[in-house]
Amino acid sequence: MQIKANISKSDIDEIYNISKEQFGENSWTYEQFIDSYYSKSTQIYVAIENLTIVSFMIVQDNIDDLNILLIATKETYKRKGYAKKLINFLGNKTIWLEVRESNFDAINFYLANEFKLIGKRLNYYKNKENALIFEKKSIA
Ligand SMILES: CC(C)(COP(=O)(O)OP(=O)(O)OC[C@H]1O[C@@H](n2cnc3c(N)ncnc32)[C@H](O)[C@@H]1OP(=O)(O)O)[C@@H](O)C(=O)NCCC(=O)NCCS
Repeated sequence: MQIKANISKSDIDEIYNISKEQFGENSWTYEQFIDSYYSKSTQIYVAIENLTIVSFMIVQDNIDDLNILLIATKETYKRKGYAKKLINFLGNKTIWLEVRESNFDAINFYLANEFKLIGKRLNYYKNKENALIFEKKSIA
């Protein structure tokens, strides 16, 4: 297993396919992935197994903290520690993220990785679902 921080533009096809598999109609568009690839403030990380991208994470660097915009693992590679390795790759920085209130898999994943619930944004998503805000504080 390898974590890569500098992906090639051609890797975006694989990442986009994982996103469509995992988020369905709520997936980012291909153009959003391309924008993120070129953006100076976002970084795309991937976990690679047997030359295949099995998990990815998109992180916005706000200097004082990191915001995970997206994280997903290919269905057949879930519960094998790939997303955990991606998060650990970020090191000891304050990390926060928003997640749908109904996304129990992700909520359990964040709780298992030392994130704490710090807030809620009401009617945050297009379907009016609330967002929960989780944070993992850097340890001084
Ligand atoms: C959330 C997600 C990224 C986790 O990816 P993963 O690679 O399967 O996670 P890991 O294998 O690293 O999980 C590490 C630990 O988190 C916890 N965890 C992960 N998924 C869990 C689940 N579905 N239920 C309960 N606990 C879970 C477990 O403690 C797990 O360790 P264990 O398998 O030894 O028990 C994955 O379920 C996913 O892609 N979900 C769909 C996309 C999504 O909703 N992303 C988040 C919103 S942006």
